[in-house]
Amino acid sequence: MGLSILSRTKKAIVERCHDDYPTKMRLKYKPFYNSMEAQKGAHVRFNGRELIMLSSNDYLGLSFHPKVIEACGQAAKTWGASTTGARSANGSRGYHLALEEKLAHFLGRESCHVSVAGYISCLSSVAAFAQKGDVILADKNIHSCLWDGIRLSMATVERFTHNNPEDLRQVLKSVPHHTPKMLVIEGVYSMEGHICRLPEIARIADEAGCFSVIDDAHGFGVLGRQGRGTVDHFHLNDKIDLICGSMSKSLASTGGFVAGTKELIEYLRTHSRQTIFSAALSPSQAGAASAALDIMQTEPQHLERLWRNTRRYREMLKGLGLDLWESETPAVPIVLGSKELVYRFWQSLIEKGVFTILSISPAVPPGKDLIRTAVSALHTDEDLDRIGEAMAYAVKKL
Ligand SMILES: Cc1ncc(COP(=O)(O)O)c(C=O)c1O
Repeated sequence: MGLSILSRTKKAIVERCHDDYPTKMRLKYKPFYNSMEAQKGAHVRFNGRELIMLSSNDYLGLSFHPKVIEACGQAAKTWGASTTGARSANGSRGYHLALEEKLAHFLGRESCHVSVAGYISCLSSVAAFAQKGDVILADKNIHSCLWDGIRLSMATVERFTHNNPEDLRQVLKSVPHHTPKMLVIEGVYSMEGHICRLPEIARIADEAGCFSVIDDAHGFGVLGRQGRGTVDHFHLNDKIDLICGSMSKSLASTGGFVAGTKELIEYLRTHSRQTIFSAALSPSQAGAASAALDIMQTEPQHLERLWRNTRRYREMLKGLGLDLWESETPAVPIVLGSKELVYRFWQSLIEKGVFTILSISPAVPPGKDLIRTAVSALHTDEDLDRIGEAMAYAVKKL
């Protein structure tokens, strides 16, 4: 009797899920979680048609490189499919240490720690180092993984206007001199494609005694010598304490990394709950990233091709009068300003054989609803011709 009464009680959380408006809209218009039937390089099969992928982050186009695919399989043959546990418990494997050493050396850092996702690495770069009583100075447009890290840290957050050193200086004036401070920024802002104004921002933060964390998920592989990233691009390695990032973009794998001094990385391993209690990077993920890192240093043609494609793509979009939010990198937003326009544009592109992703408020600031695109070294001249025709068609249909 008691049980049957309980089973009839409405569960508030189930009701909330049932009534959720954003989920209903997502399922009605289906802009996200689309299922591709096949993929070959920058081409995917979707609903039986071949489309050009223009929204993945395979900047250097290494996800189909034969050496990367080979390394992925070889690593699994040598080490098995998974470590099935955390490194704090089951121990590290030789491939973890080898990849960390290679990444640290590439980035000019003493040490590095890799994890199963960029999200975890970047979140823990903030959450493990900041604590209650500290003040975090955060660019307003940072990625959600960094906001989650800030929230978990329990520190007080002060936001400054996106990529605006002057505002950072103003905000810092209200923070007591002796309060421990952390600066949290991105190297290349993922949605906007803006390069961080690092020389000014790093100098102001350094003068104020801020510990600095830069998420370079979209600068790694794209900027700097051989793709060493935004910090290298500006020659500011001595001004930034931690560089974190993702291996799911230029490194053509999945996983994340944090690089810094040996002392900082050992502190992370002691204090980051995401690091202590989450399973280790799998052999194939590490194998792919390691091979991609070698290719970045031995085959410069991918980076050259990426920038050639980026220049051509940007000129083409500008010629159509589109607002690119002053993007300077291969991450190129097309700002249309309303949900309706964005959805129509996105559908027109699919109709003409180009797959992109839309981003609407609150994921972007109000009035900045956009189509997010990213150029890859895998795009051929013919792909870019087809993309140009599709864009012209979508502009006409607005
Ligand atoms: C700026 C930034 N940081 C971190 C991440 C998380 O990386 P991952 O996808 O490897 O978890 C992303 C992914 O989109 C990102 O854009």
